[in-house]
Amino acid sequence: MDGIYGEAVQRSLELLIAVGESYDAETLLPVTSAHVLACNPPTAGKGGTLFYEEMSGSGGKFIIPTTTNPACLDPWAWQEMGFDPGLYHAQMELTSVIAEMEAFLCHTCAPYLVGHAPRIGEHAAWGESSAVVYVNSVLGARTNREGTPSALAAGLTGRTPAYGYHLDKNRHGKLIVNVTAGLKGTTDYSTLGYFVGKIAQDKVPILNGIQPSVSQQELIALGAGLASSGSVALYHAVGVTPEAPTAEIAAGSNKIGPSDTFEFCRKDLQETEESLCSIEAEASDLVILGCPHVNINQIRTYLGAFSGRKVKDHIDAWILVQSGIKRYAKDLGYLDILESCGVRLVSNMCPSAAPVNYYRQKGYGGFATDSAKMCYLLSGAKQISAYYGKLESIVDAVSW
Ligand code: F3S
Repeated sequence: MDGIYGEAVQRSLELLIAVGESYDAETLLPVTSAHVLACNPPTAGKGGTLFYEEMSGSGGKFIIPTTTNPACLDPWAWQEMGFDPGLYHAQMELTSVIAEMEAFLCHTCAPYLVGHAPRIGEHAAWGESSAVVYVNSVLGARTNREGTPSALAAGLTGRTPAYGYHLDKNRHGKLIVNVTAGLKGTTDYSTLGYFVGKIAQDKVPILNGIQPSVSQQELIALGAGLASSGSVALYHAVGVTPEAPTAEIAAGSNKIGPSDTFEFCRKDLQETEESLCSIEAEASDLVILGCPHVNINQIRTYLGAFSGRKVKDHIDAWILVQSGIKRYAKDLGYLDILESCGVRLVSNMCPSAAPVNYYRQKGYGGFATDSAKMCYLLSGAKQISAYYGKLESIVDAVSW
């Protein structure tokens, strides 16, 4: 606070203490990792960009492993994809400012897939709602939903205020959802997340009936759905996630009565899925799969679905990945096969961070996605018509 570690540390501590005071935090906690969001010019805006520049310019260096959320374009394929050179240069400038602070420039919403994964009980300071819910729920580490300034300040100081999900008392479940729908595949989990997020809002839900065989990518999809229709930062899946060996343990001292107990049945699954659709799958000229960025297993699932088929000429089909996972897919031969089917693996980018003008200039009339979060963001904020549904129905509609 007295400036001996430089202005960036001093300002960061001022900010963290102000946040802590507003939440009645009693102390600052040491954190082992941070993940900063708003790592692209459209999301950061002028204010965010200036903040990064000032912290970097005043000598700020991350003292704990700190990763970055997606860019607004694929830094390798932006030209082929028709992005504006001005946007590319602005992205590269911001990226280099963040690089000066010694971040790990993975530009992904799933940095835990490329080695950045706090362990159970560790305190962390992460932004990006889908990653926050994964860290809290699946890894059992502890983070609040940080904004860009507080995550950045935590990365520069290794500290965060002790409030919210860092404290045991706030990690217990407050409502129960009995899942009877018989879920299969990431879209079903995404739909469940979207349904429960609406009910839970910022409360911690306990989910009964998630099968122990649920895959990593299905849990990722579930968390992203929960964090998009609501602001859920932590859920418990009984018998699956680390703090929920039983529903009673997950609830702690909270008494959950009938008014806080819900069901998610087959009908809810179907109705929720349909509620997100504004067009038929056949009306899409853009396909966006892989929100949040996918693991190698999910790429193999996509490969299986597109294998032997060809995406129709007027349609662009994207799978969103971190560049290291794309490299892995290349080594395994998956990338070449997917490309021969007309599917592009798009690296380090979030389509919802791309400016709306990009979609207008490309003339996309509607898009199809298997992610409730992507559907919600692009159809809501960018007003692009959406088909939301299972992978098989999308593949059938967009390829020969
Ligand atoms: Fe990731 Fe963007 Fe989806 S940040 S979770 S690809 S909306």
